[in-house]
Amino acid sequence: MLTPIGFSLLRQLSDGAFHSGEDLAAKVGLTRARVSQVLKQAETAGLALERIRGRGYRLVAAPDFLDANAVRQALVEFGARVAKPGTITPKPQPLLDDDLGINGVEKTTIDYSPPALQVEIVDQLDSTSTELLRRSQRRDIHGAVLAAEWQTAGRGRRGRTWTAVAGGSLTFSLGWRFEQGAGFLAGLSLAVGVAVARALEKEGYEGVELKWPNDLIYRHHKLGGILVELNGDALGPSTVVVGVGLNIRLPREVKKDIAQAVTDLGAVAGRGAPPIDRNRLFARVAQEVASTLAGYAQGGFAAFAPEWQHRHAYQGKPVKLILPDGAAVKGTVAGVDASGALVLADGPRRSRFLSGEISLRRA
Ligand code: BTN
Repeated sequence: MLTPIGFSLLRQLSDGAFHSGEDLAAKVGLTRARVSQVLKQAETAGLALERIRGRGYRLVAAPDFLDANAVRQALVEFGARVAKPGTITPKPQPLLDDDLGINGVEKTTIDYSPPALQVEIVDQLDSTSTELLRRSQRRDIHGAVLAAEWQTAGRGRRGRTWTAVAGGSLTFSLGWRFEQGAGFLAGLSLAVGVAVARALEKEGYEGVELKWPNDLIYRHHKLGGILVELNGDALGPSTVVVGVGLNIRLPREVKKDIAQAVTDLGAVAGRGAPPIDRNRLFARVAQEVASTLAGYAQGGFAAFAPEWQHRHAYQGKPVKLILPDGAAVKGTVAGVDASGALVLADGPRRSRFLSGEISLRRA
């Protein structure tokens, strides 16, 4: 596990040049032996290091660590409102009698515009989504954008773990408050998929598709995932935490260790493409997700369904759907309905499914 000191060592090495063990030790106030130990831990976090006697250490692929100011600047460039660093919004209080008009109908009008985004980047957390869920117990997380260089307990859908590497992934969560409840929010994670695909397209990455319900895939390999979690009353309001994980540059050994076929944005960009600017990418994805959440609050999933289907890799294809209880259903993907449920066609019959995993069936 990487410690804060491990991250300061990596920051020293992020210029891609050789640094002697002695220099590094002096800069971070450790012994040379401890520097060597800490750098071994960095390798277990997925970072490739080169050691040469007499020259020292070098990061083979130097990560450009996320920088909150660069992200804020890019967000402004993309038209987002950004909060001053360190602003903490108190938890909203229940409405007072005075806020209620005639017959208890609220006088207040709902503001659907995206809030000013509060960007925070930390070196290490268990999970950015877990952290925002914890914070939501104490304060308002509407518009909080939290990224971590490394998650020690990253979570995927259906209780899976989410593997990411320091400097080679993008892992962040966004907090949002909706006046509506769980039923209205059923298609939210699909809409977020559309947002991330749009963001990647705007940044010049072509060929990224969606796989129901909300995987981001490239040539049938997983590029990223979305985890939407919500708290609140059935009829609302709800507090939502949207977690986004994207593979930017995963070392080959890490890819091999993941139980499904995965790819990264480096592969989408192709050989010879300029280095990926994670700060800009993070800002683009966060801005696109925030404006999608604001749009969703007004009209739900229906407005996103045509674009979602257009981006669906399996649209019109024969698939097998494995249901949560392990049962398998075969059919052809007819699309998604206005709540984001998968619609499978079997001859003239149409069936709707709310969860499961699809895979392509050879025709
Ligand atoms: C999936 O299984 O496809 C969803 C993966 C979601 C991963 C992201 S990474 C940021 C946020 N924090 C987590 O622990 N999970 C989500």
